[in-house]
Amino acid sequence: MEPTIKILEDIETKSYSVCDGFISLSETEVLLSKIKELETQKLFKQASIGNKTEKQTNTGIRRDNIYWLEKDDESISFFSNKINALVQHLNRTFYLGINDEEFHLAHYPPGGFYKKHKDAFKSDDARKISVILYLNKNWKKGNGGELKLYLANSEETIEPIGERLVIFESHLEHEVLESKTDRYSVTGWLKSKRLAF
Ligand code: OGA
Ligand code: NI
Repeated sequence: MEPTIKILEDIETKSYSVCDGFISLSETEVLLSKIKELETQKLFKQASIGNKTEKQTNTGIRRDNIYWLEKDDESISFFSNKINALVQHLNRTFYLGINDEEFHLAHYPPGGFYKKHKDAFKSDDARKISVILYLNKNWKKGNGGELKLYLANSEETIEPIGERLVIFESHLEHEVLESKTDRYSVTGWLKSKRLAF
């Protein structure tokens, strides 16, 4: 099945979708070397919780380092273009009215995690769809750092395998289990000002 069709069907039937091979290995390498460069420049910062008005770092809730990407960052255009194509389909199919997005690079060092949470804030529910692209080339069982999604009647544990894209409705509770190794991703949110999902 064409990947976009599968993603749309999955979102409709189960509120999330896993798409393997969303980018290529060489594109993964580009993103990983960008991360390496930014880390050398000490531009990755400890992530905080809450939005701008209620921001705080709380290492008991999450332990990861992030770098916010600029919207016009040329070095990730191969990724943004694919996401924008997907957004068009999501808007047409679900009338989501997505007209904004934000992305950051994330590095969970060994021992990193993010306890159960929702990505939509109480004071700002603009985040409608969460998008995560994993960059972990040689991820193996036992490395940890799985994404656990809490669905209405079940729980899903998703391995953070390289080139894999996961998208889910931002109102869903989820967590990142403790990673035993360095875990890299691009994480973002598709946003709209619509009141109801
Ligand atoms: C987040 C998040 C999940 C993941 O950054 O809000 O839940 O698998 N990330 O990295
Ligand atoms: Ni989250």
